[in-house]
Amino acid sequence: MKVIKGNIVSTSGFGELKIIENGFLVLDDIGKIVTVTNQLTKEQELLPLVDYKEHLILHSFADMHLHAPQYPMLGMGMDLSLLDWLNTYTFEMEARFADKEYARTVYQKLAADLINWGTTRVVMFSSLHTEATWILMEELEKAGVTGYVGKVNMDRNGGKQLQETTEESKQETLRWLDGCTRFHFIKPILTPRFTPSCTDELMAWLGELAKERQLYIQSHMNENLEEIQLVKELVPDCDRYWQTYAKHQMWKDHTIMAHCVHIDEQEITALKKANVVVAHCADSNINICSGIAPIRRLVKEGVWVTLGSDIAGGAQLSMAEVITMTIRSSKIRAMQKKEKEAFLSVAEGYYLGTVSGHKYFGAGEGFCIGDPLHAIVVDDSDRISLGREISVKERFERIIYRMKKENIIAVYSEGREVKKG
Ligand code: GUN
Ligand code: FE
Repeated sequence: MKVIKGNIVSTSGFGELKIIENGFLVLDDIGKIVTVTNQLTKEQELLPLVDYKEHLILHSFADMHLHAPQYPMLGMGMDLSLLDWLNTYTFEMEARFADKEYARTVYQKLAADLINWGTTRVVMFSSLHTEATWILMEELEKAGVTGYVGKVNMDRNGGKQLQETTEESKQETLRWLDGCTRFHFIKPILTPRFTPSCTDELMAWLGELAKERQLYIQSHMNENLEEIQLVKELVPDCDRYWQTYAKHQMWKDHTIMAHCVHIDEQEITALKKANVVVAHCADSNINICSGIAPIRRLVKEGVWVTLGSDIAGGAQLSMAEVITMTIRSSKIRAMQKKEKEAFLSVAEGYYLGTVSGHKYFGAGEGFCIGDPLHAIVVDDSDRISLGREISVKERFERIIYRMKKENIIAVYSEGREVKKG
């Protein structure tokens, strides 16, 4: 067992912040939380102590939607909106991951960067390539990132560069799944790219496979108006996008739908009823001109909302930056609305970017007893003096807005210290 000490800032509900100054997290031998307290017992005082002194101990981040093979194009191709962006830049980029050596180089860097930015749990798209997907899973596991990775399925509309036939898509998915049993911290998730990329035959097969093998599913939905129109044309028997997934047994508990920007009452009810998880990607939604999702409304109506960087539609791997972008975009929405709608607070953004995502993996709210520790230790001493005392809450708010890799001096993932301070 051991104890870590610092200023602990946790959240155990949307907008709820709990601060324990000079607090202690007591961990068992495999890094599970035994207690969170401001006072150790006599026995606990004898345990080895890692004293982080004035530093902040925060939840690590959960990035619930990102595209690993788009990492090299981060910050590029921002002159187009979704469908043109996919056809012009993105598919061509992903096609390069047929090259295993290239995949190794990129994914090693991505995995290290995720940890350095304090992201310890992910739900991620790979490309359609089986070998590169295994390489991605290996590199994430080596670096200490945990979560789900999907080999992408796409048997139509990938253009010349990025193609698999329906049969190849099925066979490769099975081969890929067979090779996933060797991973401990990274699990497979089925990944039909989005309805425009998958034939009905493939979708039906994937839905059945998910049921048979009890696998989760991730995809995209209602991101952009043109895309929604395209789905209507491709699947005329469904009048809503979500039904194109529901039709194939994919609309169910723990299915992750990235975006859900343009969404009405009926769709909100459908999300809530099925416990489908929304991965909101504010930076991406603005970069590729998709729109601004009604996040407060979704949360208020009981939809499970999490955050994703959606690199490389999003240009920031840092989830602290994704949180602040989420807040900014909620402010744009609030300013545009005639009826008053409150924008998101820092505490609310923090919850969505951390605990709301961690719950997907079975974690409780806050730093919960029995959960493996997922946390970051933040040295924010680079701040400029206010000329007065600064509270821990003020320091927390500032660092969410100002966090650099260098501020994160230690990272705990699944109870293990994967970056040492
Ligand atoms: N919809 C289908 N594929 C993609 C993708 O790669 N990025 C985004 N943002 N949306 C998508
Ligand atoms: Fe995406």
